[in-house]
This record gives sequence, structure tokens and C-alpha cells, in this order.
Amino acid sequence: MSTFDIRKIGGRIGAEVTGVDLSAGLSDSVFGQINEAFLEHKVLFFRNQDITDEQQLAFAGRFGPLTRRHPMMRAVDTAAPHVLAVDGEDQRADHWHTDISFTTAPSLGTTLRAVVLPPYGGDTLVANAAAGYRDLPAELRKVADRLWAVHTNHAEQPRLGTERGDKVREAFLSRRFETAHPVVRVHPESGEPSLFLGGFAQWLVGMEVRESRPIIDVLQSYVRRPENTARWTWRPGDVLIFDNRSTQHYAVNDYGTHKRVLHRVSVNGEVPVSLDGQPSRALKEGE
Ligand SMILES: [Fe+2]
Repeated sequence: MSTFDIRKIGGRIGAEVTGVDLSAGLSDSVFGQINEAFLEHKVLFFRNQDITDEQQLAFAGRFGPLTRRHPMMRAVDTAAPHVLAVDGEDQRADHWHTDISFTTAPSLGTTLRAVVLPPYGGDTLVANAAAGYRDLPAELRKVADRLWAVHTNHAEQPRLGTERGDKVREAFLSRRFETAHPVVRVHPESGEPSLFLGGFAQWLVGMEVRESRPIIDVLQSYVRRPENTARWTWRPGDVLIFDNRSTQHYAVNDYGTHKRVLHRVSVNGEVPVSLDGQPSRALKEGE
């Protein structure tokens, strides 16, 4: 195996980690370096890992307590409630989003592992929402700093048009979550501010949807600028982890009816806080 190294894959986000074997567990010193790189690069990619669900759980568990189950998605099996199947036959996350941002404490981070890959396509894009914030012109930043947005799972969910897709969609929407989050949140570890919006953010507090939409779109356009993104083409044996507190991601839906399955294990996150220290608040919790 190659020697331990962390190599940036883009100027503003993403690095590939080489020379580690995630099946063997990580020493405290190697994990320390990985965690530092995780905070700096926001998404880390590992190639050629031959790991099981248990080993993925152990890797994710180094970052903190694991999310026992997604509020609205099925686990791989009941014996492994922390492992979710991200399956193209269930749904396709072809919209920019931050995982479970409709809850009061969205994940700290998410690990994904290639299980079945399509012959082409199905890349994952990850965007640096802190860079998006830094790119805002000062006058726009002042506006964003004061805004709050309501995130809900009752957002536009892309439709697959299959029976299985409809079932998953129905389960995803069976209860309604709404949370008011600051549009600019402060990272609990690095102190870095970032734009916190994405596909579940549906309107701004104090505004109608039609008033909110253009403002959200303008702010989002800074997050998803190509310079602020990394694009990962999956190969067998790939594992990634992204910092869900300062990124958004997008699953490119260009692989037709081919099968694509990733296993996802998420780490519990904290309640986000605004620049002036106000925490997010639940408006509806699964009603
Ligand atoms: Fe996601």
C-alpha cells in the first residue's frame, strides 16, 4: 500500500487520503491527521478500501456517536440500523442539499461507501458552503448574516416515476419536519461561517415563499460555483466522508436504469448556531 498522504483534489474543497487501510482501524495519531484534514478540506476520499458495514461503522464512529436511523429512510437491515442503503431505485438526490437539514441537529458528517456502481455516471458533487459565504460581496453578506430559513422534508422531492420510488417518496413525506436555521451558521469546531441553505430550505423567516425564492437562489449560486465544488467519480472500493456542517452535495442522476448502491453511515451533529449565537429551533418535529 502507498504511504500515508493527504493530497488536495481541488483548490477549495476535497482531498484524497492514501496509505490508510480502513479495515484495520486507525491509530490515534493517524486519525488525528485525518480529522484535521476533514475540517480543512471538508470532504475526504479513500480509494481501494475493502471494508464491511461493520468496518464502515467503526470508521464513522471515530468522528462521534452514530445516527441510529434516518427519520424517513430505511436501514439496510434491522440488525444494522445505522447503515442506510442509498439506492438509485429508491430515490435520486439530484439536488444540492445538506443531509437531514430539516431536523434541529443535522448530521456532523456522512460516510458513503461504494457497494454497486453503474458502468458510467452517478458521480457525487460536494460544495464548500464556507467558500460560498466568503465569495459573497460584502453588501450581500450583511443581508445573509441576518436571515433565517425554514428547512422542511416537504421540499421538492425529485420523482422517479416507479412504484418503488413512489413508496420511498411517500415514506419520506409521511411526517412533516420544519426547522428554522440561520442562513449563516458558525462551524462548532473551526468557527468558520458558512451558508446553510440547500434543497430543504424552502422559505425565509418573515417572508413568503415567492419573496424568499430569488434570495435563496442568489445565495445558493455562490455555494455551487464550480470553483467551490469537488466532483468524485466512484470506483469499487471507494469511501468518502463529508462535513455536513459546511457543505452541500448532489448525486448526479445520469446513469439511467443502471444500479447504484452506496452504504451511508452518519455521525450525529449539534444544533447549528448563528453568528450571534442563536441556536436553530424546531417548528414541527415529525407531525
Ligand atoms: Fe444526501
